[in-house]
Amino acid sequence: MNEYIVTKKAAEDKCKNLVSLVAAYISHDHIALKFKRYDMNLREYLDDYRDPLQLSEIFVNIINGVKELHEMGFIHRDLKPDNVVLSRDPFQLVVIDFNRATATCIMTKGSVRGTEGYFPFREEWRNGSDKWDIWALAAMILEADMDKREYYRCKTELDTKNKARKHIEREGVCKRLK
Ligand SMILES: Nc1ncnc2c1ncn2[C@@H]1O[C@H](COP(=O)(O)OP(=O)(O)OP(=O)(O)O)[C@@H](O)[C@H]1O
Ligand SMILES: [Mg+2]
Repeated sequence: MNEYIVTKKAAEDKCKNLVSLVAAYISHDHIALKFKRYDMNLREYLDDYRDPLQLSEIFVNIINGVKELHEMGFIHRDLKPDNVVLSRDPFQLVVIDFNRATATCIMTKGSVRGTEGYFPFREEWRNGSDKWDIWALAAMILEADMDKREYYRCKTELDTKNKARKHIEREGVCKRLK
């Protein structure tokens, strides 16, 4: 339902960086949502087309999408390169996949949702906390800044943190992304 609520509101509000609902088909036991199709997800872009000069534009658009979502009163909780889609010509980018989104007003203790490597420290696992998305944004920026050979899919939280720390110690973060 959150996928429907968020994408419908994104269409009404003409959000620039959130995928907008084009049509919804509802039957007694199914709901199908129709969206505009983009060329690829960000993971595919990083694997096949990574252009260091375009990364800052990409992240400005992702951060704006997250801002639009938070202003709507939702936290994404599963931000990762697979959940960002883009087209290259003309350049357009939207955040997708709001299945795990939760309202910011929910402030229970929280449980593990989302994807390993992209969720925050345990003490910040409050359901409606925006820390989920801020942490994931930082993880995505680091991931995009890494050399393709180093490009990683993290298996554990600790694995991510160690890789990120080593990368920052060795390289710093590139100026454009800063
Ligand atoms: N509008 C779109 N344009 C282009 N590709 C898309 C679009 N929506 C989804 N995709 C592709 O399909 C993949 C899966 O989409 P999505 O994240 O919505 O589903 P999911 O992750 O399988 O869902 P769930 O979170 O329910 O498991 C994306 O990573 C992306 O590659
Ligand atoms: Mg997804």
